[in-house]
Amino acid sequence: MNGASAMEEDKDDQKSGIGEMKTTSCHVFGDSFSIRIIENIKEDYGLFVWPCSVILAEYVYQQRSRFAATATVVELGAGTSLPGLVAAKLGCDVTLTDEADKVEVLDSMRALCKLNNLNCKILGLTWGVWDKSLFELRPRFILGADVLYDASAFDNLFATVAFMLQSSPGSCFITTYHNRSGHHLIEYLMMKWELKCVRLLDGFSFMPSSKASGLSGNIQLAEIISIREKR
Ligand SMILES: C[S@@+](CC[C@H](N)C(=O)[O-])C[C@H]1O[C@@H](n2cnc3c(N)ncnc32)[C@H](O)[C@@H]1O
Repeated sequence: MNGASAMEEDKDDQKSGIGEMKTTSCHVFGDSFSIRIIENIKEDYGLFVWPCSVILAEYVYQQRSRFAATATVVELGAGTSLPGLVAAKLGCDVTLTDEADKVEVLDSMRALCKLNNLNCKILGLTWGVWDKSLFELRPRFILGADVLYDASAFDNLFATVAFMLQSSPGSCFITTYHNRSGHHLIEYLMMKWELKCVRLLDGFSFMPSSKASGLSGNIQLAEIISIREKR
């Protein structure tokens, strides 16, 4: 579907029903491991690998000394979940989440864990909805690839992110997003939700050229913490 798939793709396409086109992409991380993703390029937003996800997954891999084994990780709006699956490969305790009523996306996550022999928790978590399960999550890292694309959802997304950051001292939200409206987007959201951006990178600045060549867009990576943690 995108540059991610172009890296090393099994052109294993198969039509499996009206409106469905499945393809399997293989994403390689250094000399360490690869992750296979089954994508459905005609269906839901959450059923294929977006460039932001390829960039965030690579960042997690490159920052692997921080993602020490047993670190708790929650991926929001995970869809095909590449960054979360990388964290799981590194030994983290990973919960993959997406909108609670997206049954097909949540089923696809289960299938991807099985395909890659990884044991992640799968949770329906809709931004801005205060289910009991949200109160039980205490992640060290919150990941979100391409979750900042619909302005009408920003408040719900950041309400959830700010709550999780405040509830889990020392935690950090790492997100990749298309910078369509300049730097103001992040600045505005940080002020509104009492957050602080502690690292802002051009998403292509750390990408191996073999991966970057298949991707496009002005993608940024931000690491965000709370300035108001609950003790
Ligand atoms: C553009 S896709 C990105 C998917 C994946 N992170 C990636 O980069 O490949 C946005 C994801 O956010 C999820 N999403 C959208 N609105 C949501 C909400 N209100 N609560 C939770 N997830 C949501 C979608 O189901 C989808 O998986």
